[in-house]
Amino acid sequence: MKIVLLLGCIALACAKRFDGDQVLTLYPKAPAHLRLIKEFGSIDGLADFWAPDTADLVNIGGSVDIRFPSNRIRVVKRKIENAGMEYEVKILNLQSLINNQFDVPRKSRALGYDYNVYHTADEVLAWTDDIAAQYPNIARSQIMGKSEENRDIKMLTLGSKTTNPMFVIDCGIHAREWISPAVCQCFVNRMLSNYGVDPDVTAMMDALTFIVFPVLNVDGYAYSWSDDRMWRKTRSNYGTVCTGVDPNRNFDAEWSGPGSSSNPCSDTYYGPSMASEQLTQVLQGFVRANQGNIKAYVTFHSYSQLYIYPYSYDYKDAANAAELDSLAADSAAALQSVNNKRFTWGAGHSSMYLAAGGSDDFAIDNGVSISYTIELRDTGRYGFVLPENQIEPSCQEIYPALDVIINHVM
Ligand code: ARG
Ligand code: ZN
Repeated sequence: MKIVLLLGCIALACAKRFDGDQVLTLYPKAPAHLRLIKEFGSIDGLADFWAPDTADLVNIGGSVDIRFPSNRIRVVKRKIENAGMEYEVKILNLQSLINNQFDVPRKSRALGYDYNVYHTADEVLAWTDDIAAQYPNIARSQIMGKSEENRDIKMLTLGSKTTNPMFVIDCGIHAREWISPAVCQCFVNRMLSNYGVDPDVTAMMDALTFIVFPVLNVDGYAYSWSDDRMWRKTRSNYGTVCTGVDPNRNFDAEWSGPGSSSNPCSDTYYGPSMASEQLTQVLQGFVRANQGNIKAYVTFHSYSQLYIYPYSYDYKDAANAAELDSLAADSAAALQSVNNKRFTWGAGHSSMYLAAGGSDDFAIDNGVSISYTIELRDTGRYGFVLPENQIEPSCQEIYPALDVIINHVM
């Protein structure tokens, strides 16, 4: 027992604990239910909205996953029951899931980089240079900016030429969505190690330049390892009580509009100004500098198993909404063929909720006609705390899913 606790301490450096915290799925069926959910959302430190991201994004007839701290669970459940709302306990003890997110025993890393485990921010940053150095003819690593805490914001360029049209992928905009950077890393490795080996990968690498930001919100990601596994935002502070801006509400896409918050303590805080965050500036700068030459943009988040295409800042469709819809359908079919995981798809405003300031909407408004947010595994069994043994199947199913999109634009 002592040893287990000690290991837990090393792995997460004695970070914040979540003993007895529960994640409940609530099924609001009446206005009173929505009111109660909003009330939960308005009480400081009570409700951590997992999916969707805030109380005002919840709809009657839908559902919401919320984490509640252990000492509030009894009262919360009583209120839910008194309101006559259906609910289900999705996670009974969050800390035990966190303790089990890493494979035990930890695999040996002697045989090079292990793509089937989660890596710290420092490891990902070192890997970015290492993998590029291993494939000098088809890969390059660059520092595109510095984060608020002075970490490197790195970018990989993959392909046999650098003058080809671009396919931009980013991971780790939200800190706690660990499967996202893991998928960027395995994708990079797959493209590089199969060049000249697999004819399909070779053709893709000859036709396009792949731009990959393996962990855009690098400060938030580091903090989710060291201090708070449930951290979502950046780590910037503009003199307020609370720290962090939601990077996916910070983009020049109807910034400060619906579904984003002016409250610095909110998990969807849009920030003190448009593109206040370094990572936002890096991505926006790159997209604008290469306007007209970027064929597609895919940003990986978790969880929900969902393809979201623009727009999310308003109830309007993209000019090529039909193309985005059928391409998502094809991609989801390819994904499902691997492990039979079902992903759904739709425009943000109709299938999800309005949420302004997102990177996907920014991309399409700046000349990238194929733009997706992909919410990876799962649908809430583990949520953000997806066990490491699901990294490999996630990678295996995302390759053909991405290939469909890649082939569409090449
Ligand atoms: N869960 C993601 C978020 O709320 C979905 C992003 C969809 N796109 C958007 N522009 N809101 O950030
Ligand atoms: Zn996210």
